[in-house]
Amino acid sequence: MKQTKRYLDGIVYQIYPRSFADSNGDGIGDIPGIVSKLDYLKGLGVSIIWLSPVYPTPNADFGYDISDYCSINPEFGTLEDMDRLIAEAGRRSIKIIMDLVVNHTSDEHPWFKASKDKDSPYHDYYIYRKGKKPGVPPNNWTSNFGGPAWEYVPSLDEWYLHLFSKKQPDLNWHNPKVLEEVEAILRFWLDRGIYGFRCDVINQIYKESLDDGKWKPWLIGQEHYLMKEGNHEILRRLHEDVFSRYDCMTVGETYDVDYANARRFLDGELDMVFQFDTMGADKRLLPIFVRKHWKKRFKKTLVEWEKQVDWNAVYFENHDQKRSISRFVNPRYRDLGAKMLATLLLTLRGTPFIYQGEEIGMADFHRPFKKKEFKDPVNFWLYGLLRKLGFGEKRSLRYVNNMNRDHARLPMQWSNSPAAGFSSNQATWLPVNDDYKSYNVKIESEDPNSILSYYKKLIALRKSDPALVRGSFEAIDTSSDIFAYYRLNDGNIRFVLVNLSDRRVVLPRSISEMRGKVLLSNYEGAGFTFKKFLRPYESLIVELTA
Ligand code: NOJ
Repeated sequence: MKQTKRYLDGIVYQIYPRSFADSNGDGIGDIPGIVSKLDYLKGLGVSIIWLSPVYPTPNADFGYDISDYCSINPEFGTLEDMDRLIAEAGRRSIKIIMDLVVNHTSDEHPWFKASKDKDSPYHDYYIYRKGKKPGVPPNNWTSNFGGPAWEYVPSLDEWYLHLFSKKQPDLNWHNPKVLEEVEAILRFWLDRGIYGFRCDVINQIYKESLDDGKWKPWLIGQEHYLMKEGNHEILRRLHEDVFSRYDCMTVGETYDVDYANARRFLDGELDMVFQFDTMGADKRLLPIFVRKHWKKRFKKTLVEWEKQVDWNAVYFENHDQKRSISRFVNPRYRDLGAKMLATLLLTLRGTPFIYQGEEIGMADFHRPFKKKEFKDPVNFWLYGLLRKLGFGEKRSLRYVNNMNRDHARLPMQWSNSPAAGFSSNQATWLPVNDDYKSYNVKIESEDPNSILSYYKKLIALRKSDPALVRGSFEAIDTSSDIFAYYRLNDGNIRFVLVNLSDRRVVLPRSISEMRGKVLLSNYEGAGFTFKKFLRPYESLIVELTA
């Protein structure tokens, strides 16, 4: 049954609506803006769009704090606009998946407002507890966005749990009413023609106990809520009651997921999961510390996940991560490096997720953000914390910028018009990056050697070649600079060979003795037969010959 699912052959493109395309000149992207770009996405070869949240929200976490699950953020448009998006995408054979954020709601959601009355049935929709003693929260858990994970409500003399900001109270998944409500929301959208959901922090919705957590420098309490048995049970229920009854797909954002839990999620709970190991390849201890030597880990995590699960959600970017070329590529070789990463993204076994702008090689902001420019709430907390810990202003800013999510949320670069063609208004909600005149959709569409043109060729190749989609995956052992693997299907063998480094790398004998025809490379005219070395970031997709 699963084998007929279209996501297996599909290519997902993530849109962060606030930063994609602004149709009404308010400096904020919107749904009509997305509709106007559907032909572009069709031309790129995208088959599924994942929309980051488009629901009404007070924007404490830019949409990941939802105040109404069955309506549209007025900044983005109306329900009619959304229906039009679904229909117009459908006409182009593009499906839409939405973000399902049900670990928490906004504190401005009517359920939460009602929950402040102890006698209301909504009180039990959230996780309220008495403090350990006056002024002391019920346990020592800390929030993802800093400080204790509890907020005191004086009128109740109780605290509520929030694993993210205090404006994102956690739902109580022990209450069967919550499941019922969420199922109704899922049906509402699926019946409207939505093709599925990317499920936000879905491996932590079920709090097994509220005991104190073991002390850690970061996120105390996780052992009580990450991937608990109850979590799997809820997902099985959602699958049985709803997902299995629709032609739809689900992908879970599963922070810190391990192989065993991933396999369980993939067995009758979710269709795919986002693993976090690869994103940690260049991190040390805490996400603010960058590790220079990332290649070995990067490759190892990707190979291991290919071995451990049947089908991956392959991604190098999203709205929470810095741009991949700013992490993994020497800026001197920006185009070659972007194409190298694209080669991996589209030839590893799994469904590729392209994040808006990745296909034109968008980079992090050209300089560190200043404090007054921050938009992401996490930055304010982190900066304050670092200063409190005694770090100087400059160093604190540097650390914050090492994980600043605003980098990935800069406006999409469409052309070299002012505001990069994103908006008619130059006062965009986040600034446009400096490089928009050289890296934008228009200019790259006209250049056969651009990153965008390479993506198009790569996607077309992938679509025409079942080995690159469904073929099995077999990595070969090489030094950490080289990433090499076979994709095998029905006797067809493809060989993918990539230099992860900015240096020339000599190939081992086992590879330099091979023969084959290059199907695609990021170096013009590159050959393969008896190849002795790879140039910086050189990437090849090869059809092996005898
Ligand atoms: C993960 C989302 O990707 C992120 O943007 C958000 O801040 C948290 N979950 C909380 O919903």
